[in-house]
Amino acid sequence: MRGDGVSARQETGRVVVVTGAAGGVGAELVKRFLTNGDTVIATDLSPDAIDKLSADIGARDRLVTLAADITDEADVARLAEAVDGNGGLDVLVNGAGFFPIDTFENTTPDRWRQVIDINLTGYYLVTHALLPLMRGRGWGRIVNFGSASMYPGVPGQVHYVSAKAALVGFTRSLAREVGDDGITVNLVTPGLTLTGPIVENFPAELIESQRKGRALQRDQYPQDLVGPVFFLASPDAGFVSGQTLNVDGGMFMN
Ligand SMILES: NC(=O)c1ccc[n+]([C@@H]2O[C@H](COP(=O)([O-])OP(=O)(O)OC[C@H]3O[C@@H](n4cnc5c(N)ncnc54)[C@H](O)[C@@H]3O)[C@@H](O)[C@H]2O)c1
Repeated sequence: MRGDGVSARQETGRVVVVTGAAGGVGAELVKRFLTNGDTVIATDLSPDAIDKLSADIGARDRLVTLAADITDEADVARLAEAVDGNGGLDVLVNGAGFFPIDTFENTTPDRWRQVIDINLTGYYLVTHALLPLMRGRGWGRIVNFGSASMYPGVPGQVHYVSAKAALVGFTRSLAREVGDDGITVNLVTPGLTLTGPIVENFPAELIESQRKGRALQRDQYPQDLVGPVFFLASPDAGFVSGQTLNVDGGMFMN
């Protein structure tokens, strides 16, 4: 038997929450957990996007979709109610994100707060509201989405990189508070991944330069994140906590 007393219950049939579920990476994660036999509560900001996700995946009795803003406490409380109705929480994937490009000098206080709210405070709000549903069961997994952009720093994204880098401290400190309950907390840092906002807003030369900088010299796709996140959410990762798993094709080797 493993040290954390793993049971079949934790391999499949779990209750999983994914935020940012209608996004490029989030949607792939939802599909993977569903295929694994888990119940997935998939939440995202836009009702249209979450409806489209539901339609794309098709009717599944184990998929619950909910439009909610992770920066809004009332929305997050609705999310907690939806989770509670499903009998506790096994896995929380904090995947929502917003990564605009603004030079530092053009970053207004409102913009700064918006980016920090979504990429950092929203992670706190969701985790704070849902943690009681994970506590006291001897097992739990929290996976946060940071960004490999914190390694080199990125011009035009001081707000975003600041928020994502702060998730290192969030992840490590929270891991120490909840470890006694068998709950692990880890951070995944993706490299530049070809999802909608990147393809639409980022210059082709930047995407090209990322390819060249990797040990594995190809574009990064949402699917590249699925295995690492799934692993951190699994019983196999039961003795891994407070860690940062960088998934960028071997660009930054820390
Ligand atoms: N794509 C990349 O290059 C890249 C690189 C590093 C890190 N990341 C991070 O990976 C995660 C997934 O990114 P993605 O590329 O799939 O982006 P995406 O834009 O496709 O998905 C992000 C999702 O988050 C949702 N969201 C934004 N604000 C929200 C809010 N206030 N409440 C609820 N949902 C909200 C969006 O609606 C969107 O569906 C994000 O945390 C992102 O910051 C992405």
